[in-house]
Amino acid sequence: MNFEEIQSYNQLKKHSVFLSDATIYSLFKQDKDRFSKFSQSFSDILFDFSKNLIDEKAFDLLLKSAEQLELKEKIRDMFDGVKINSTERRSVLHTALRSKSQSIKVDGKNIMDDIKSTNKAMYTFAENVRNGVFKGINGTRILDVVNIGIGGSYLGPLMATEALKPYKTPLINFHFVSNVDGTDIKETLKKLSPETTLFIIASKTFTTDETMTNAETAKEWIVKTLGQNAIGYHFCAVSSNVDLAVKFGIKKENIFGFGNYVGGRYSMWGPIGLPLLIAIGSEKFNEFLDGARKADEHFLNTPFEKNIPVIMALLSIWNVNFLGITAEAVLPYDNYLRYVPLYLQQLVMESNGKSIDRNGKPVSYKTCPVVFGEVGTNGQHSFYQLLHQGTEKILCDFILPVISHNETGMHQEKLLANGIAQTEALMKGKSPKEVFEELKEQKLSDAEIAKLLPYKVFTGNRPSNTFLIKEITPETFGMLIAFYEHKTFVEGVFWNINSFDQFGVELGKQLAKRVLTDLQNPSMDLLNEYDSSTASLIEIVKDIRK
Ligand code: F6P
Repeated sequence: MNFEEIQSYNQLKKHSVFLSDATIYSLFKQDKDRFSKFSQSFSDILFDFSKNLIDEKAFDLLLKSAEQLELKEKIRDMFDGVKINSTERRSVLHTALRSKSQSIKVDGKNIMDDIKSTNKAMYTFAENVRNGVFKGINGTRILDVVNIGIGGSYLGPLMATEALKPYKTPLINFHFVSNVDGTDIKETLKKLSPETTLFIIASKTFTTDETMTNAETAKEWIVKTLGQNAIGYHFCAVSSNVDLAVKFGIKKENIFGFGNYVGGRYSMWGPIGLPLLIAIGSEKFNEFLDGARKADEHFLNTPFEKNIPVIMALLSIWNVNFLGITAEAVLPYDNYLRYVPLYLQQLVMESNGKSIDRNGKPVSYKTCPVVFGEVGTNGQHSFYQLLHQGTEKILCDFILPVISHNETGMHQEKLLANGIAQTEALMKGKSPKEVFEELKEQKLSDAEIAKLLPYKVFTGNRPSNTFLIKEITPETFGMLIAFYEHKTFVEGVFWNINSFDQFGVELGKQLAKRVLTDLQNPSMDLLNEYDSSTASLIEIVKDIRK
């Protein structure tokens, strides 16, 4: 059902108009228990959503709409392997990659058997690389692992390997090449020696142009120094396309596949997580999966009013569809989490950046917000100006690990003080009266105060969520990311869209092929083929590169 047609929709609309007279700060003043009413804890993660323009009535109506949209049944369908990715007729079972269930069936086949046997081979391979049993062609141990992949075959492993760096083996360095810009691979190769390098070609399809172009360049680099036979010793693959990987020269036993029930951006829990597995080892990787599985169980079994990913999604729906907020900032106060915003950009926007509903009809409401972010405190000295005083309100997710892996002097207290203060500043703002008194204290004249005052006012009333996490461990990290995955799914249910296809990336790829042909074509009347802008851009590029 379309969510504008459910019973609670109009009540939510009406209530959002009523609440527009309030401010988040005024709601705090009215209710001493606001924090306990609007926060939830699970394991070592506290989720505080009290700094939203939301009250009990709005929360209640949002919970009711989840029921009216049959969210519970839809969650069950996903975990049970129903083909909810309807356009591609696929199940959505990234949760199987971290499941302890004995049997999950797709088309009558128990996929847990495949997952277990792939894991066995992959864990052995990873441990062999870690402890030096796996050797390069000249018998030397691997010192550098280069993951070549893009999108979901890049962002997940990159983010997780960095997030869990404190658990990484010191014996191996990790590198991630994704861009077809030759600078990416060239700059990476400059630092490496072929004899001690292992490439992971990570591509579900093994056809993605950027990945295959980089893989061919890496192959040339290996073959030039070590000869053709070295391919089998210096390359492994994560791919569902075993035939193409074998054709590339990779030994069959070093190819780790996964089923089409796992989407690229949801894939780091399985073979796409191989760099992380090599980096942190089997035990810690299992803890990472445990965290995600605990989040899955929480998502499946917890009543919606206490269910963190469901609440995260309800808040997004409330802010986007009822309060007109169309962007979300992800702000981790932890340098190791620096790639989380990048990862979530793909997870959220490739999943929900859509405008056609499940019935093939254009939606009549807003869907996915724009997602961006940066680590704190760096972002504070960059785009936070807009967060505080811009014309657009932005929903901010603050991610604050309490204990640092690098406790040093006052660093961590200062970092946390900044993160917490930002949530307060966004909500509370600074009134004209407060600004006046502050400027008065600075001994400014009345004329100077009158001139400066409007610029120094903070309207406040800007929403934020805070994740307070005891410490980033493989388990808490896995849990946090699984929460975001499920949040994304629930949003898709509300917007009645399929969060699991990505046709929007195809047109650009198609047209790039044609432009590439024309860039290489010496003489052609491009104006017959293209608009004048595109034709001229191609002509000028050809001219410069001649
Ligand atoms: O950008 C489209 C996309 O299909 C992503 O969804 C995916 O993560 C990425 O390309 C990489 O695909 P592959 O793993 O097949 O190379």
